[in-house]
Amino acid sequence: MTTYRIEGGTPLSGTIRAGGAKNAATKQILASLLADEEVVLHNVPNIGDVAITIEICRALGAEIEWSSQDTLHVRAANLRDVDVPVAFSGLNRIPILLFGPLLHRHGRAAVPLLGGDDIGARPIDFHLDALRRLGATVELDGQTWRAQAPRLKGALIDLPYPSVGATESALLSSCLAEGTTVIRNAAVEPEIMDSILLLQKMGALIAVEVDRTIVVEGVPRLHGAEHGMLADRIEVASFAAAAVATDGDVFIEGAEQATIMAFLNALRRVGGEFEVRPEGIRFYRGADLTSIALETDVHPGFATDWQQPFVVLLTQANGLSVIHETVYERRFGYTAELRAMGATLEIYEACLGAKPCRFHYGDHPHSCLVQGPTPLRGTTMRIPDLRAGFSYLIAALVAEGPSAIDGAQYVERGYSAIPEKINRLGGRCVMLEAAAGRV
Ligand code: EPU
Repeated sequence: MTTYRIEGGTPLSGTIRAGGAKNAATKQILASLLADEEVVLHNVPNIGDVAITIEICRALGAEIEWSSQDTLHVRAANLRDVDVPVAFSGLNRIPILLFGPLLHRHGRAAVPLLGGDDIGARPIDFHLDALRRLGATVELDGQTWRAQAPRLKGALIDLPYPSVGATESALLSSCLAEGTTVIRNAAVEPEIMDSILLLQKMGALIAVEVDRTIVVEGVPRLHGAEHGMLADRIEVASFAAAAVATDGDVFIEGAEQATIMAFLNALRRVGGEFEVRPEGIRFYRGADLTSIALETDVHPGFATDWQQPFVVLLTQANGLSVIHETVYERRFGYTAELRAMGATLEIYEACLGAKPCRFHYGDHPHSCLVQGPTPLRGTTMRIPDLRAGFSYLIAALVAEGPSAIDGAQYVERGYSAIPEKINRLGGRCVMLEAAAGRV
């Protein structure tokens, strides 16, 4: 167990650089397996989920090397294995996305059960349905999903919900399929669009239509390419929330306005301000903070991964804020620790939003009321998941006194060099025990 120790009460101020997007990097490493020539990825973040993905791909025979701090070379010519080792079971959501590349390369594949944060049931039915529509047989064999398909064939895939992962499964499975695949109700998150850019460079034929339909015309082979991935819009929003919550002034190099428009609108509505410059975005307080009603949603809505940092910000805003989480049914578990720090929050099963969501029926604690402003006091906390973990860091930075936050490895899965970045901004953060580094 690694622990952050934070001494709160200092506004964050200064400049940091955003890393590449976690949720693009891992998928782009997998996309590279579709080619037998080298794919060079730039701006790859040095985070735990990338390290796990590299280990999985190396276990399958891919050669992967760093040539600089953030440039990764992926060579999959000798991809030999089709079984993702069970040792990778339960670590993250990545293995299911390997079916596409492995089926194209070898006609069969096996992946272990998935892990990932405990923020909802997180079924994989859309992924399985997409693979079956493309002609694969997929069965659960004990703790392993096994799939077979001599050749995947283009199909119509109508997603019941615009799932990020299922859209990516369908994309990685259809680029080299025979014929055309139509993915209706697809997710169009910026990370997916960025991965489509990489696939296009590799020779794929993919059209994104105006109504969330993605049309993939299968090609016989993909080739090598070089790609610099987008900045991590979740890291940007996390540090932006920290800047405004601590009444600081932070410039984030590499932050891209187009990927965080919904966040910027919400930030401005509560009294945060920002200045978009060619090299990045500066975040600070423009007025006294006020409450807001907001709902998380798929892109271009307010992302579910921004919710936790924003809730901490709202503990410092005047009035009653309402947050309706519509992407995951159980993503407010972390708020109990914030309450222990002095925040006034209540969780509800009802949909406290403009319209009922998928979690309207059943016992889903997916709405939250926050009454602010409340001073927070430092305490000892245990991180339950990645984004909750960063929100605890913000709360500890806002709080009076010291905090000890256990479970740093959860946060290191998705953010790089956290203590360094916080300390560069004048915050006081140390990590006890080193977390997993680069592999
Ligand atoms: N869903 C299904 N069936 C499926 C797939 C999804 O019902 O087969 C449901 C989920 O249960 C959820 C909703 O669809 O209620 C959305 O899930 P989605 O598939 O979009 O999520 P994901 O691909 O598993 C990715 C990110 C998450 C991010 C979501 C939403 C990665 C590795 N993870 O998850 O990121 O919150 O999209 O944008 O890309 C994080 O970075 O901390 C994180 C959790």
